[in-house]
Amino acid sequence: MNSNSDHAKDRAARAGADLVRDGMIVGLGSGSTAALMVRHLAARLVGERLAIVAVATSRATADLARTLGIALKELDEVDHLDISLDGADEIDPQFRMIKGRGGALLREKVVACASTHRVTMITADKRVERLGPGMPIPVEVSTFGLAHTERHIRELGGTTAIRRAPDSSLVLTDGGNAIVDCHFPDLDDPAALDARLQCLAGVLDTGLFVGLCDLLIVGTLDDVETLEVPRS
Ligand code: A5P
Repeated sequence: MNSNSDHAKDRAARAGADLVRDGMIVGLGSGSTAALMVRHLAARLVGERLAIVAVATSRATADLARTLGIALKELDEVDHLDISLDGADEIDPQFRMIKGRGGALLREKVVACASTHRVTMITADKRVERLGPGMPIPVEVSTFGLAHTERHIRELGGTTAIRRAPDSSLVLTDGGNAIVDCHFPDLDDPAALDARLQCLAGVLDTGLFVGLCDLLIVGTLDDVETLEVPRS
């Protein structure tokens, strides 16, 4: 770990892992911040002899957790999660988020919706006044009829790019779906845009996460800021 941003990210990840208590069922997010959190959590499980069960939001996170000795279950093997801990790409003052740059948005959202307490761990640069201008909204789309679904997304006023690997093959999610990265010029109402996108046949979910953050942890160079989100 060398940059200031890495240290800030690690601080947020550690603070997230510190929220886990013995006996909890824990949702493990995806991405680099979540991976750091998983490492801190694994160290606590050993050091403090805690017993938890975890549900992973991606194969990558599941592989990491397994390697570190964290007991995993499938989401449908538990009836709820006590806490889920995940990163985000952007978050606005109303705690609305863009997630899914790593492509795990569908599973992340399903796990967040099954969790009693949703914790988001970020560095300060992820806080923005408005979602969107600098960050595409990833939309998970069925590969069947992908071009048609992409056109329907564009008809809502967005510009789109199907996410591809350097060899031009489709980047597929763990569920075998494509990702369409979208920019919308007018993102005043993320919940409304999320609903409009989700109405399109072929769209499985979007990276707009509204009402899915209960606690925000912001790692900075030498501190951690924790913000409770008021329940509406
Ligand atoms: C994964 O699909 C994403 O939603 C990540 O949670 C998000 O991209 C944040 O990732 P980093 O922690 O790597 O910035």
